[in-house]
Amino acid sequence: MNVLVVGGGGREHALVWKLAQSPRVRRIIAAPGNPGIAQLAHCRPIAADNINGLLALAKEEHANLTIVGPEQPLALGLVDAFQHHDRRCVGPTARAAQLEASKSFAKIFMQKYGIPTAHYGVFTEARAAKSFVRSEGAPIVIKADGLAQGKGVVVARTVEEAETAIDAMLRFRAFGAAGGRVVIEEYLAGEEVSCIALVDGEHAILLESAQDHKRLCDGDQGPNTGGMGAYSPAPIMNEAMAEKVRARIIAPAVEGLRREGRPFVGFLYAGLMIVDHEPYVLEFNVRLGDPEAQALLIRLRSDLVELLLAAADKGLHGVTPVWDERPSACVVMASEGYPGGPVVGRPIHGLERVVGLEDLCVFHSGTALHDEEIRTSGGRVLGVTALGVTLQEAVDHAYGAVRRIRWEGMQYRRDIGHNALRRSGEEGR
Ligand code: AMP
Ligand code: GLY
Repeated sequence: MNVLVVGGGGREHALVWKLAQSPRVRRIIAAPGNPGIAQLAHCRPIAADNINGLLALAKEEHANLTIVGPEQPLALGLVDAFQHHDRRCVGPTARAAQLEASKSFAKIFMQKYGIPTAHYGVFTEARAAKSFVRSEGAPIVIKADGLAQGKGVVVARTVEEAETAIDAMLRFRAFGAAGGRVVIEEYLAGEEVSCIALVDGEHAILLESAQDHKRLCDGDQGPNTGGMGAYSPAPIMNEAMAEKVRARIIAPAVEGLRREGRPFVGFLYAGLMIVDHEPYVLEFNVRLGDPEAQALLIRLRSDLVELLLAAADKGLHGVTPVWDERPSACVVMASEGYPGGPVVGRPIHGLERVVGLEDLCVFHSGTALHDEEIRTSGGRVLGVTALGVTLQEAVDHAYGAVRRIRWEGMQYRRDIGHNALRRSGEEGR
């Protein structure tokens, strides 16, 4: 069959890489794709948020299955448009995608269905928001309601910081319409973990766990980013914890959305904070995480196409995906200036030195081809992803490749996997 992949980041490169292994796939089309994806798929220069353009492409290419990487096209109704034209597409409708596109919708939904999450208030007026902050005290978390590419969250250490964030969002519209409403919530201290389920509208299967590294710098310091690296599995997500997440979070979310007339199909991602062994939802995303997808898909043994078809056709009940037992690690290499405005256009050296290394994939995100040369074109540039017999081996293998690649001003974290490695070190002592 012909499969269309919407998006052009590292997550989509990993999806394409995995799809290309399926005997059921004849042709993969990516829109817009990137130079890494172009080695495995036919890239077409149609933006991921151009719904009509993508629909026309799916028809022209006779795509039997479409999978959407990023959240914007989902929130814009790509799946609705495809359904309307009888095109099979794995992902939530715009109404189901509200779970990510509106944080206030998500909070009210969680409260209604008893899904554990931080206490909160929703505000459109700065004065009322500030008075809530003063009564609650700091630390406290201020979130723009709408999609803000992972940048609309401020963890304020003081009441003053919180007030500044409220002014920036509500008064000065730092995030445009996305910040016209804010969610203010209780600060939760614990360990974060990403739990992603594949859902067919009714049944959900939990994928293996992964842990992202949100902060720019080693030791979880510096500003929040889209994610500087990931590893899988996350030891904090043992079987008992997975059962809690399944029973208290994923199952009620899937059932609640069904009851609300917004049945969910696709990847449902719960960003969790584990506090005293109990999981709380920080956010829902309606797609695979990036870079979690890279760390997960390199471990997936099952045919991804079979899983996606089962999700699209209400056939996930009883399906158990098979995983490589070996842990994985993904190190994100980013441009100078990221997560602010990145410096782009820099030639990337050394990619040829890591081609063909076993159990290693270099997934492209912010790259572009200029005069036959691969250059940087975005904030996050590459996701160097490896498997190892132990997590330490996976991490070492990934960094071995990272050290062969270079461009001016590149930055990456040196401590991907540190939480799990520290824990296993403590256990081994
Ligand atoms: P979100 O986009 O809602 O996941 O928030 C981005 C990041 O902000 C999360 O990954 C956490 O690191 C942090 N964060 C969000 N909400 C909270 C909270 N209630 N308590 C502590 N940290 C939070
Ligand atoms: N890595 C976090 C996200 O994809 O939202």
